[in-house]
Amino acid sequence: MKLIILGPPGSGKGTVSELLVKHNKFFHIAAGDLLREEVKKGTKLGKEIQRHIDQGHLVPPSLPIQLIKPIIMDKKKYILDGFPRSLEQAKTIERWHINHAIYLKIDENAVIKRLAGRRTCEKGHSYHPIFHPPKKQGICDIDGTKLTRRKDDNPKIIKERFKIFYKQTMPVLQYYRKKGILKIINANDTPRKVYEKIITVIND
Ligand code: AP5
Ligand code: MG
Repeated sequence: MKLIILGPPGSGKGTVSELLVKHNKFFHIAAGDLLREEVKKGTKLGKEIQRHIDQGHLVPPSLPIQLIKPIIMDKKKYILDGFPRSLEQAKTIERWHINHAIYLKIDENAVIKRLAGRRTCEKGHSYHPIFHPPKKQGICDIDGTKLTRRKDDNPKIIKERFKIFYKQTMPVLQYYRKKGILKIINANDTPRKVYEKIITVIND
C-alpha cells in the first residue's frame, strides 16, 4: 500500500507517520528530512536547498523527486510525507500508483502552538513539551540523539510556509480528489486519534 500524507506545516505529518511505521510497518520518506540531510552535507546543492528552506519556499520541484525515487523504487508499502507539494510533482509521479492521499486538515492557530514548541532530532523525529514530550528531556526516544529547534520554525517563516502551502499544495488536493483517492482527516486531535482515523480510512 502506498500513501501520501499532505498537510500544512505542523499538521502532524511526521508524527503520525512514525505511528504508521511503528504499528503497521510502513516505510516512511519525508521530503523535508531528505532535503535537510543534503543541507548537512554542506555541498553546493545543500546550500542552494537551505536558501529555499530558510525562506519558507519550496525547493525546485525536480529535486525531491531525484532524492526520493531511488529510495522507494523497490518498496511496496510506503508513506510519502510532504511530497508531492505541487501539481508538477503530482503529475510526475502519476505512475507510482498511490492508493490514498491523506490530507491532515488543521487551522493555522493550532499549528502555531505546535511549531512554537517543536523540537526535532537529527533524523527528523518530532517532539513537543506538552503534546508529545520525549521520555528524557532534550533526547530523541527513538535514536537517542539531541533535540534541537528547526530554523524555519519561527513565526515569520511559518506564515510564509502556510502561504506557499495554500498557493502551491492546495491544487494537489483537487488533483487527488478528482482521482477519487483523497481522504480528509481532522488533524485537530491527539496523534493517536489521528492515527486511528487514518487506519479506518485506509482499511475501508
Ligand atoms: P517539511 O519538513 O516537510 O516541513 P512542513 O511541511 O512545513 O511540515 P513540518 O515537518 O514542519 O510539520 P509536520 O506536519 O511534519 O508536523 P510534525 O509531525 O513535525 O518541509 C520543510 C521545507 O522543505 C519546505 O518548507 C520546503 O522548503 C522543502 N520541501 C519539503 N518538501 C518539498 C517538496 N515536496 N517540494 C519542494 N520543497 C519541499 O508535528 C509538529 C509539532 O506538533 C511537533 O512538535 C509534534 O510533536 C506536534 N504534534 C504533532 N501531531 C500532533 C497532534 N495530533 N496534536 C498535538 N501536537 C501534535
Ligand atoms: Mg515533518
